[in-house]
Amino acid sequence: MLDGLRRLEYRGYDSAGVAILDPADALQIEKRAGKLANLEKALAEHTGLADGTTGIGHTRWATHGGPTDRNAHPHRSKDGRVAVIHNGIIENFARLRVELEAQGVEFLSDTDTECAAHLLAVELAAMEAADVDHGPAPARLAEAMRRVCQRLEGAFTLLAVDTHAPGAVVGARRNSPLVVGVGTGENYLASDVSAFIEHTRDAIELGQDQVVLITTGAITITDFDGNPVEGKKFHIDWDASAAEKGGYEYFMAKEIDEQPRAVADTLLGRHSETGEMTLDEVRLTDQDLRDVDKVFIVACGTSYHAGQVAKYAIEHWTRIPCEVELASEFRYRDPVLDRSTLVVAISQSGETMDTLMALRHAKEQKARVLAICNTNGSTIPRESDAVLYTHGGPEIAVASTKAFLTQLTACYLVGLHLAQVRGVMFADEVGAVLERLNQMPAKIRAVLDAMGPVRELAVDLAAAKSVLFIGRHVGYPVALEGALKLKELAYMHAEGFAAGELKHGPISLIEPGTPVVCVVPSPRGRSVLRDKLVSNIQEVRARGARTIVIAEEGDEAVVPFADHVIFVPPTPTLLAPLVTTVPLQVLACEIASARGHDVDQPRNLAKSVTVE
Ligand code: G6P
Repeated sequence: MLDGLRRLEYRGYDSAGVAILDPADALQIEKRAGKLANLEKALAEHTGLADGTTGIGHTRWATHGGPTDRNAHPHRSKDGRVAVIHNGIIENFARLRVELEAQGVEFLSDTDTECAAHLLAVELAAMEAADVDHGPAPARLAEAMRRVCQRLEGAFTLLAVDTHAPGAVVGARRNSPLVVGVGTGENYLASDVSAFIEHTRDAIELGQDQVVLITTGAITITDFDGNPVEGKKFHIDWDASAAEKGGYEYFMAKEIDEQPRAVADTLLGRHSETGEMTLDEVRLTDQDLRDVDKVFIVACGTSYHAGQVAKYAIEHWTRIPCEVELASEFRYRDPVLDRSTLVVAISQSGETMDTLMALRHAKEQKARVLAICNTNGSTIPRESDAVLYTHGGPEIAVASTKAFLTQLTACYLVGLHLAQVRGVMFADEVGAVLERLNQMPAKIRAVLDAMGPVRELAVDLAAAKSVLFIGRHVGYPVALEGALKLKELAYMHAEGFAAGELKHGPISLIEPGTPVVCVVPSPRGRSVLRDKLVSNIQEVRARGARTIVIAEEGDEAVVPFADHVIFVPPTPTLLAPLVTTVPLQVLACEIASARGHDVDQPRNLAKSVTVE
């Protein structure tokens, strides 16, 4: 169980806990604030756990109640027979708590979760008192869970064990993820498959509003009303070592280094000789795509920055207006959507609640939804009309790197496909861009091979108070992403700006020595952009900034204005973020490491945020 929790720790690491049914069918609970290591230490002193064969474990990202031992999961019912863990938010918990307190239940934590434990115990007691035959103890537990779920509002994955039903674990899901691992003589439940991949590659996806009961030999799935349902079986094709550090100091360093391969995998098998493109699960016809008159891209965090780059490519290639929106804002401003709107939802995890809710809103308004996602079988692709999987392999570090580059690649493919289907680009033009895309993995490798000086620079910058990033055109979202990486990992003030906007306010932030990272467009192609950016570099330099310039190899004219230059291989303007982002990722990783931070698990963050 600890191995599984370790693999899921990226989802949250404010606290961790386990509840095990010991050989005497008594519940043993151990939980600790902080990372899993704290729990492991406590468990080493806790005897009697190793002989248990049934249990539940949790790593937490706090929503209700601070990250303390008390608020850590599992939570136990008042009568001590039931233990519960939970992801998501039970939105009506305050009302439920008042009701339970009126019945004499004393709450031991500030969490919303605890009410689910008490409710389960209340239902079980009521069922047993009513003397109606609900079958054996595990079946009773499942029925109690269904009854409790019908009373809960919000998003939840719940797992519970009951001392009266040894050898059984019941799970339920609404909006938050839950998958079943199918073993031999053993079965698993987890938020994602990485938790049990060492034990089985066979899994079952649970649908919305379903309850699952597992014992060593059986898996029973029903809806919340108790009607049997057939889960969707799937096989996990990546191996466990993909989720291991493999000799790297951090997962992030490994994932940065894997980017050439990851981008190549996103491109693999996407186009035939004739330039036709393949989407994994196309449920959109060419006619649907021809009817599109507006594209919205919705995403969060790093995925949102990928969307911002995609806007430039999609509008340029398809001539369809494209807007990019933070998923958390999208539905609340009542966007104008209809059948001819294509909404592209970008999400590494496929579980981000803000993005999921944005796509559900889009579907309600009859828009078509296409998902760009890295995680097979996750909720967002499942609920979309079409999917383009990025095939980047598991990303474990909380700060996203290879997912970003593969999302960019997938966005380019979507743009080209749309342009081709609509006849805006001919097959040979699409083919020419695809050929350039196919050269990108080698260029990314070349950037990675030249990162020595960036590592040295990082040590130098580690003491800076604040770092600014500027860019134009597709370099603007790259600047935003560079700043986000630094904030996430190094806990430094960092901001990205459109270089032209700097003079309208932010330039006053510049003090003598302030590092400014400048993403310079290619001098070929739209050279006017590049010249404007070089002027912006001079403006900040004149005010004392220390300039770190990312420029194309051969663009020697930037050298006099740069305190440090990082050259990247020549690349077509629209594709440049695939190379210009890489030094910024390395910079953030190295600065964080120089400042002594946990690179893979930065404070307060989680990789998969399944609350709104
Ligand atoms: C979290 C992570 C970010 C990530 C964002 C979107 O906030 O900390 O790194 O970019 O979610 O995640 P998604 O899985 O939807 O791409």
